[in-house]
Amino acid sequence: MPNADVIIIGSGIAALMTAYYLHEDNNVIIFTKSNKERSNSWLAQGGVAAAVSKEDNWRCHYEDTMIAGCHHNDEKAVKILVREGPKQIQELISKGFRFDTDERGHLQLGREGAHQFRRILHADGDATGRKLVSFLLKELINKVTIVEEEMVLELLITNGRCAGVKTKKQSGEVGCYYASATVIATGGCGSIYAFSSNASTVTGDGIALAYRAGAEVADMEFIQFHPTMLYVNGKAVGLISEAVRGEGAILVTEDGRKMMESIHPQKDLAPRDVVARTIHAEVLQGNNIYLDISMIANFSKRFPTITQLCRSYGIDIESGKLPVVPGAHFLMGGIKVDVNGQTSIPGLYAVGEAACTGVHGANRLASNSLLEGIVFSKRLAETLRNYIKENMFVETSPHTDNHFVKKITKILPTKQKIQTLMMQYVGIVRNESGLKHAKQWFEQFSIPDLLNVDLDELTTEEITIINMLITGWLITTSALKRTESRGGHYRTDYPLMDENWKGTRIMRTKEELFVNA
Ligand code: SIN
Repeated sequence: MPNADVIIIGSGIAALMTAYYLHEDNNVIIFTKSNKERSNSWLAQGGVAAAVSKEDNWRCHYEDTMIAGCHHNDEKAVKILVREGPKQIQELISKGFRFDTDERGHLQLGREGAHQFRRILHADGDATGRKLVSFLLKELINKVTIVEEEMVLELLITNGRCAGVKTKKQSGEVGCYYASATVIATGGCGSIYAFSSNASTVTGDGIALAYRAGAEVADMEFIQFHPTMLYVNGKAVGLISEAVRGEGAILVTEDGRKMMESIHPQKDLAPRDVVARTIHAEVLQGNNIYLDISMIANFSKRFPTITQLCRSYGIDIESGKLPVVPGAHFLMGGIKVDVNGQTSIPGLYAVGEAACTGVHGANRLASNSLLEGIVFSKRLAETLRNYIKENMFVETSPHTDNHFVKKITKILPTKQKIQTLMMQYVGIVRNESGLKHAKQWFEQFSIPDLLNVDLDELTTEEITIINMLITGWLITTSALKRTESRGGHYRTDYPLMDENWKGTRIMRTKEELFVNA
């Protein structure tokens, strides 16, 4: 007997929404390597973008998404996102989820960078992700099995099809679980950078898992840096939502110069890549950058999570100035899927930030990621329901196509070493010599060996480092292949691309390493 109809890896919005849509007629198991509240979704402050106001419509949301994405977006995926978004928001509300409303009961809509209109729904001010995850966990209690502190280390591929997962408990015990369909919803890889807004557990595990199993990944060079992370004692310690700039806050230098004034027509609400690069350039010139919040009335009421974050680091909100730096925030690329979540391996699906439908193009529009999780998980659930009916599971044998036989021959680096290297050479601003240096550094660990290594005997920390090495190498080498600047991929040795030049999508599979071997 298989262990489940569907195995889901990850516990953020995309994972939980998929389980939510499936649980009534399917047996679902969720695996998370830490605990169910430790995800990027839990940390998401901004909210959910959807064209729900009278003045707004899906076409405007479509336009903003395409412009922010530098027209590298998959147009079909964007249309699905912006058209289905408002309906699904309505559905969530009808199921009992409460977005913030004004005193007349109308939805309160926030504004964020590169949006033409106020269209960001939020909950408890800046705790939208936390509220959504809590709501879904409550709905799913006793209805799906959530296995915590158990890391998926390998996808079981049998006769070319994904048959389930191999896992490792904290105790070191290894186990196999079988299912008709397996879904990767592990989020992106922000924490392979030294400065990041992501949960520390978000280290590219799902992408490395899929790539090791032979799945296609795409657009790995496109990393979004959020412009405003709170900066304390040389570290980026937490996100200051763009919604703060949406309420009027502005970026200033130590001497009060308005940093974005002459840089972009949308000033402080310009697309994130533009704002992040401007801060980066200022910092390189030795200037400290601050977010001036002095004009926002009742800051602590509108932004309670940020207020608490600042207080916990001894930053005085009343001073009106928050020190900020950019940090890695979102991966636009990931495991290549169609708009129904299907990867290049039968039986294997991906959704949310781990997946790449192409919806975000080269740079994600603010607050489109929770929306992506909501919209695409519903489509995925519908696809899975049909797939499971037609593909009753038969395989539960431990025999698989996997041939992970190698032993580690080189001492693995520390996580910190990888994070520092990524920040310095594969960060906000890149060039050929830096990228080549990073590529060479990664390749000293032999990527083909890492793709073939038997993980069973390794600790979860060692497996995480191997996943970081594979993911970091994929980002670096994809960045070398993209000889242009576009959105979240900026190279000083290549110009910014004209949006009319569509360019190509950089696709990767591990075959490329073994084809001539
Ligand atoms: C933010 O609140 O600034 C982040 C929201 C997002 O990345 O969509």
